[in-house]
Amino acid sequence: MTIGPSTRVIKADSEAVAAAARCLAAGGLVAFPTETVYGLGADAQDGIAVARLYDAKGRPAFNPLIAHVPDMAAARGLARFDAAAERLATMLWPGPLTLVLPKAEGRTVADLATAGLDSIAVRVPDHPVAREILTAFGRPVVAPSANRSGHVSPTTAQHVLADLRGRIDLIVDGGATPVGVESTIVSCLAEPVLLRPGGVPRAAIERVLGQSLDDAPLQPDGDEGEAPLAPGQLASHYAPRSALRLDATTVSASEALLAFGPQTPAGSEPVRTLNLSTRGDLIEAAANLFSYLRALDSAGAASIAVMPVPHHGLGEAINDRLRRAAAPRSVT
Ligand code: TXA
Ligand code: MG
Repeated sequence: MTIGPSTRVIKADSEAVAAAARCLAAGGLVAFPTETVYGLGADAQDGIAVARLYDAKGRPAFNPLIAHVPDMAAARGLARFDAAAERLATMLWPGPLTLVLPKAEGRTVADLATAGLDSIAVRVPDHPVAREILTAFGRPVVAPSANRSGHVSPTTAQHVLADLRGRIDLIVDGGATPVGVESTIVSCLAEPVLLRPGGVPRAAIERVLGQSLDDAPLQPDGDEGEAPLAPGQLASHYAPRSALRLDATTVSASEALLAFGPQTPAGSEPVRTLNLSTRGDLIEAAANLFSYLRALDSAGAASIAVMPVPHHGLGEAINDRLRRAAAPRSVT
């Protein structure tokens, strides 16, 4: 059995900011105040840290996360801005607005952070503590609301502690968050679309854009997370082109193999094999899941055989994603 971290709570000051940056750099989980709600931060480029974050929240599914950066220059390293996105960012950042944008080329964030999507949600928060931590850390930080899955978003350090004590490393206590609701999410992948109402009123966004906003509300997916309603339009889930064969205990020579654990199936040599975790570690498996699916998808195999993954801990979210990827494509 692994012993969880003991959670430290420290008052926000320059010491706390430095401690938060060190903890993030070491792959730790740090809750910190933003102007909307407390976020649970992890190094966005560290797949294992991101996997630990989903584990700490106890989510049964992987939802894409928001990458937090201190300024527009850092945001440009993660995403491509069209004219509408550019205007919204210029007028409303820093602030409670998240933009969903096409991912930039090159090293942006771990595949698990965007749940394998080609789009990325980015936000520049308007809270001194959040901005100081982001600046001190110097890399993007993914941060969902710092609550257990299914609970409401926390607006004080005490709320965070009540939900996540013993599951995260550090809570930086900067008092109550001023806005108290999550950021407004606008997708700028094509025409701007309102995905989630939040801290910036719709009218303010429409004023900046000079046009009215279409809606595609995020759909509750069984916990506090939401999934976009219109998958055809928004590509809410990464879906491999190849067919997936789940719970495979054998593999054929025309297949690629997504393995898990030390024992791989006997039989033919597959086109290509990638092992999510040879030592059977579900955190490591989650960190590898989306990039391995992509790699096997382009291996030229007839299908991808997927070994069984145990259904505890992050295994539930891994199996959720594998089941969705294996489902016949719906016509959208
Ligand atoms: O105010 C906030 O936004 C807070 C603070 C901590 O910044 N964060 C927050 O994160 O509310 P979270 O994980 O609880 O909600 C993020 C939402 C999810 O509904 C997710 O589905 C959506 O953003 N999202 C993230 N990336 C997306 C993408 N590429 N396409 C569509 N939706 C996306
Ligand atoms: Mg949330």
